[in-house]
Amino acid sequence: MKMQTEKCDFGMIGLGTMGRNLVYNMCDHGYKIAGFDKDAAKVDSLGNEADGRKVSAAHTLEDFIRSLKTPKVIMLLVPAGKAVDSVIDELKPYLLKDDLLIDCGNSHFTDTDRRIATLAKDDMQFMGVGISGGESGARNGPSIMPGGNEKAYELVKPLFEAIAAKVNGAPCVTWLGPGSAGHYVKMVHNGIEYALMQLLAEAYHMLKECLQLNNDQLHKIFSYWNEGRLKSYLVEISASVFLQEDDLTGKRLLDMILDSSKQNGTGQWTSQNAMELHVPVPNIDIACSMRDISGFKKQRVDSEFILNWHKVDFREKDGELIDWVENAVYFSMIISYAQGMALLNGASEKYGYGLKPESIAGIWRGGCIIRAALLDDILKAYSQDASLVNLMLSKDIAMKLQNCQDSMRLAVKTGIETGIPLPVMMSSLSYFDSFRRGWLPANLIQAQRDYFGAHTYERTDRAGSFHTQWKQENSL
Ligand code: 6PG
Repeated sequence: MKMQTEKCDFGMIGLGTMGRNLVYNMCDHGYKIAGFDKDAAKVDSLGNEADGRKVSAAHTLEDFIRSLKTPKVIMLLVPAGKAVDSVIDELKPYLLKDDLLIDCGNSHFTDTDRRIATLAKDDMQFMGVGISGGESGARNGPSIMPGGNEKAYELVKPLFEAIAAKVNGAPCVTWLGPGSAGHYVKMVHNGIEYALMQLLAEAYHMLKECLQLNNDQLHKIFSYWNEGRLKSYLVEISASVFLQEDDLTGKRLLDMILDSSKQNGTGQWTSQNAMELHVPVPNIDIACSMRDISGFKKQRVDSEFILNWHKVDFREKDGELIDWVENAVYFSMIISYAQGMALLNGASEKYGYGLKPESIAGIWRGGCIIRAALLDDILKAYSQDASLVNLMLSKDIAMKLQNCQDSMRLAVKTGIETGIPLPVMMSSLSYFDSFRRGWLPANLIQAQRDYFGAHTYERTDRAGSFHTQWKQENSL
């Protein structure tokens, strides 16, 4: 009698580090997984390193498809963009009604909506699922942000709950909403990630230059911060970055790394969409701009001489700067999450995602890059009032902002005096100061628009649109 080989529960296409680590994570939870990649070496290494796990490493798409149970559930972890479309095109002839494709990459949410609609014409399911946590998250427990058809999600719910990071036993995954909700939430996660990374870079800049601290001292400060209210993955990894030695020179690696950062663009997508929805996310905008400015290395070096300014050294009076900066980081962290959550709120309304901020804060507490102790407070704020229009308006969160406001202003003032750029800190403060003002000078902007373009304006004392023949004084 011919032996029937056991079919695989799920398939993974794309066996780069993330894909392979996710496969091993799934196997460790008792699932049998089929893996396929166009790169035969990656398929071989999946098989060779399987170490007794239930893995089927397929060299052809046909073998891969044959090894799967029905309905077929196939995850894709290929670079966002055209690669996703071409994998779908190659797979389509092998797919049947009710099969489910899951894009686990960082795809743009509009692509996800388009793919859902295209595959739905043939009764095939497509889900966009954000996965955060980098290589180690994929291996040991990521935060998973699924969106799409809720019924289709049932096919992968037990798997995702098994492989996701856990916080107090709760898996960092939940179905977020229909359509591209999962990829949208992941995009905003990355936008917040950009803001927080820039924020910590600003804290590093200030402490390094104002107090002339070395990497060991910076390590100590960041590690100390990570034991308090700033506790977060990004503070933790920054602390350890300060200690890393360079294999090539024996110096500290950080000092050998070029001050010019790259990006794959998810932060930029967040800003672009926020502008379209008219939801301000200035911390994310400025974090993107700062990556771009960092890229103008030659121009910056040349400008050092031309835009020369007398150097003002910081004089520490009472050893308060570290404390001010800690406050500024905490304040700006809150504002960065507040902007991201406000955008999710706007997008939920616009795209009909029905997002629950409490659930999102909950699944961001573990596994993902922006995990932070602060998310417990954010979760609490939304569980007390799910309809909060802005996180800053929660009483508890407002109190936290109030408590560090004075030190925050002193930190920013120090940056202004010493010429150290602190764009995320400054933008956090401006956002806070703008939103807590009942009056802003936008009346002048209305007047200017009407003056030069007859764009009309609204009045404070009566409804309607008004236009004035402004008295022209052409002095220029
Ligand atoms: C994550 C990360 C990840 C992101 C990279 C690079 O959540 O695991 O957000 O998805 O793509 O960290 O992002 P940039 O190249 O845009 O900095």
